Amino acid sequence: MKNKMKNPFRHFLNLDEIDTKEINLILKESHKVKKNYKKKQFTEKKILAMIFEKPSTRTRVSFEVGMKLLNGDVVILDHADSQLGRGESLEDTMKVLSKYTDIVVYRGSNEERLYKLSKVSTVPIINGLTDASHPCQIIADIMTLQEKFESLNDLNISWIGDGNNVCNSWIHASIHFDFNFKISCPPGNFPQKKLLKKFKKGNIQLYNDPYEAVIDSDVIITDTWVSMGMKNNPERLKKFKKFQINEKLLKKTNKQTYFLHCLPAHRGCEVTDGVIDGKKSLVWVEAENRLYAHQAILLWCLKKI
Ligand code: CP
Ligand code: NVA
Repeated sequence: MKNKMKNPFRHFLNLDEIDTKEINLILKESHKVKKNYKKKQFTEKKILAMIFEKPSTRTRVSFEVGMKLLNGDVVILDHADSQLGRGESLEDTMKVLSKYTDIVVYRGSNEERLYKLSKVSTVPIINGLTDASHPCQIIADIMTLQEKFESLNDLNISWIGDGNNVCNSWIHASIHFDFNFKISCPPGNFPQKKLLKKFKKGNIQLYNDPYEAVIDSDVIITDTWVSMGMKNNPERLKKFKKFQINEKLLKKTNKQTYFLHCLPAHRGCEVTDGVIDGKKSLVWVEAENRLYAHQAILLWCLKKI
């Protein structure tokens, strides 16, 4: 029987709740894991459970591969084919999973469920995405930018499109770095006022016009216009049309601007083929870096760094 009392750990829930020092530790470890690929291992086997109430390709595969490379193993619970799908509560599920496993990734809709889970769990919980946040993604994104820029301080980073979960986690990250974060969204699609009010300091600016928001941008980031669980309709797509990342928009930056997208992309909607497949697109490295970032997050949660 495992004695969890002797096993201190850290949850990875949202970036604004983690100290800057710890964020930098995770980032440093992400680069280290990449450099020493396949070298780092747990001294004793660790088991990761992943609960998916929403679909995933990158998060699921990179955590599974990452855990296995660390000498760990993985068990996956899809909502539909576990008792969760028949109504067993997440809290009851978690109480049981805490006995079998060492760490859990949770992907779901409601962020409150993530926090409830973290309260009953005796093992670390990693936020694998909710409707409100996607912190794992942002660790990989920042790692990707650190490979291109000496420092993130003073960079102009433009978020163009939907003010969604990924954008929210960038807002959380902005408290740890001194980049300028310029957000441009259609009316009604900016991040929630409450969040903006809480984190709006000098380095977050809002723009109605995407063509203004990208002037002097070092990095442009976008994401799907229709996130998982949202209703797609022609009216919504029409509203976002002006926010497409295309060659015409990139010309406005007056710079060689890098492009990030967490993927999956909807080519022809939020981004054109020319941009996503272009010379300044970092999306494939960004996706690759999820693997190293997730290994670093696992190590950090289990206090191995
Ligand atoms: N970017 C990202 O989280 O991708 P998945 O939804 O495929 O995991
Ligand atoms: N905003 C997207 C991110 C996918 C990784 C979604 O929630 O569907």
